[in-house]
Amino acid sequence: MPGDEAAGRRLGIVGAGKIGTAVARAAVASGYDVAISGSGAATRIELIVDVLAPGAHAVTTDDVVRHADIIVLAVPMHRFRELPRDLFAGKTLVDAMNYWEDADGVDDELATAPRGTSAVVQQRFSSSKVVKSLNHLGYFKFEEGRRQRDAPDRLAMAAAGDDAVTVAAVMQLIDRLGFDAVDAGSLDAGLALQPGGPVFGISHTRDGLSNLLRSKAPSRREDDRAPAVQFRDLARRTTKAPT
Ligand SMILES: NC(=O)c1ccc[n+]([C@@H]2O[C@H](COP(=O)([O-])OP(=O)(O)OC[C@H]3O[C@@H](n4cnc5c(N)ncnc54)[C@H](OP(=O)(O)O)[C@@H]3O)[C@@H](O)[C@H]2O)c1
Repeated sequence: MPGDEAAGRRLGIVGAGKIGTAVARAAVASGYDVAISGSGAATRIELIVDVLAPGAHAVTTDDVVRHADIIVLAVPMHRFRELPRDLFAGKTLVDAMNYWEDADGVDDELATAPRGTSAVVQQRFSSSKVVKSLNHLGYFKFEEGRRQRDAPDRLAMAAAGDDAVTVAAVMQLIDRLGFDAVDAGSLDAGLALQPGGPVFGISHTRDGLSNLLRSKAPSRREDDRAPAVQFRDLARRTTKAPT
């Protein structure tokens, strides 16, 4: 692979759990060179990665960051603050996390985040560019829903972020993983993608998801942000994670 193409096919994943390994599996199958970490030494996740995502490299989180420019953050939401603020400096950070009170405990900042939990993640990792994505389908749906481009039943996945070029890069990743990618607009649109939002947990094809987001989610334009308020309260009420 020529240099740029090879660099574009490197993916980092922090969190070697259900969704992290599902994304790793899909990425390896799509030709990515994948590095993935858990909270400790690489040896602790070697067996899991060998079995669930063969071909991916089990490494430390520092090595994940060194490996790739695009990094998927897939740790339980109550643990993301364990990671240093400047860890992802200059990187694209795909926030695949969801806040669930049952699993994460009561966290007032996340529960009441007026611009969604990804805005809190962006605030913490302010030297990275956060895109909310890969969070709104369960890992089993992610696994069984992947399709070749142009398959009639290909599902869609949304990406929300403030920087259009970064969002485009994440959309390319989504497409390569086997989903139609839909630009959801600004990072605030992550509200529509998170638990309690209209998109969360429901499978859509591209047209369905695009139409839903067009009617519900804030665009990347400053003067068009009001609809985010509509699902703020809904998000607060949602407490149960899918099993
Ligand atoms: N499960 C799904 O279907 C699904 C789908 C979309 C999004 N999500 C969201 O994705 C996040 C992860 O969910 P999951 O179901 O994959 O969780 P999980 O199965 O419990 O796995 C979590 C992983 O994160 C690692 N981790 C925890 N703290 C870490 C840290 N500080 N640094 C590095 N790695 C750390 C854990 O490693 P250790 O074992 O070493 O602690 C573990 O490998 C959640 O926010 C969830 O809501 C889940």
